[in-house]
Amino acid sequence: MVYHRPRVIIGNWKMHKTVEEAIAFVRNFLSAYQANKKEKIGLAVPYTAIQSLTKELGEKTTSLMIGAQNMNDCSEGAFTGEIAGRMLTEAGAQFVLLGHSERRRYFGENDALINRKIKKAVDSGLHPVLCVGETETEHNDGQTEKIIEKQLTDGLKGISPVQLKNLMIAYEPVWAIGTGKNATPEEAQSVHCFCRQILSGLLTEEIALTIVILYGGSVLSSNAESLLKQPDIDGLLIGGASLSLESFLQIVNDDSSKLEK
Ligand code: PGA
Repeated sequence: MVYHRPRVIIGNWKMHKTVEEAIAFVRNFLSAYQANKKEKIGLAVPYTAIQSLTKELGEKTTSLMIGAQNMNDCSEGAFTGEIAGRMLTEAGAQFVLLGHSERRRYFGENDALINRKIKKAVDSGLHPVLCVGETETEHNDGQTEKIIEKQLTDGLKGISPVQLKNLMIAYEPVWAIGTGKNATPEEAQSVHCFCRQILSGLLTEEIALTIVILYGGSVLSSNAESLLKQPDIDGLLIGGASLSLESFLQIVNDDSSKLEK
């Protein structure tokens, strides 16, 4: 079965950019981006910038989605410093990154918590982007598939395939994030293909074929094209290179001119 998934490129700004800087970026981005109907661009921005950016976008474009980088697994409550999915939806967020390796490593998030967050994101009307990936030690020990299978299976436990129709997966080898090291396009393709097999088992093949799987970890304009050529790499999650308008535009504009695989 051949299924044409949309191309999705998401910038993950992490803890960068004030509201003023974010608005300036988006204005300049929109004036230079060569939009293409087959491609969607997302920006996972700091909480403070979500509402201002969605207001700034207004009706201007449907190809640029604004999202968050995390959320709590409860709807409300005495959780100082946390944010609920429904607050993100109200602010205009369309998607939320969950289980990013920095959340797992620095904030102790495990698969059970990430699973509850995905459920709450779906209930709140957000598209969850479940991030998975093995550490360098796990990679060197040949544990990649075992780790990815566990993160996908536990992360998606108890959620019906229908609820997951807007799910995206981001495969980000932890050893490639912010390090300048890369998985080769062939290595990344093999893990993406493995993810799709696991998703087929969890959600049915029909649904697995519709799920967008992004690759992330030191993506630059110099390696984006060779990654995107791979049949199971449907898009990119870009950290460092999404912070500069020039490098982000270079990746997305280059890509939208060569969308066919
Ligand atoms: P990087 O980050 O592109 O800077 O490696 C990717 C990510 O953490 O999502």
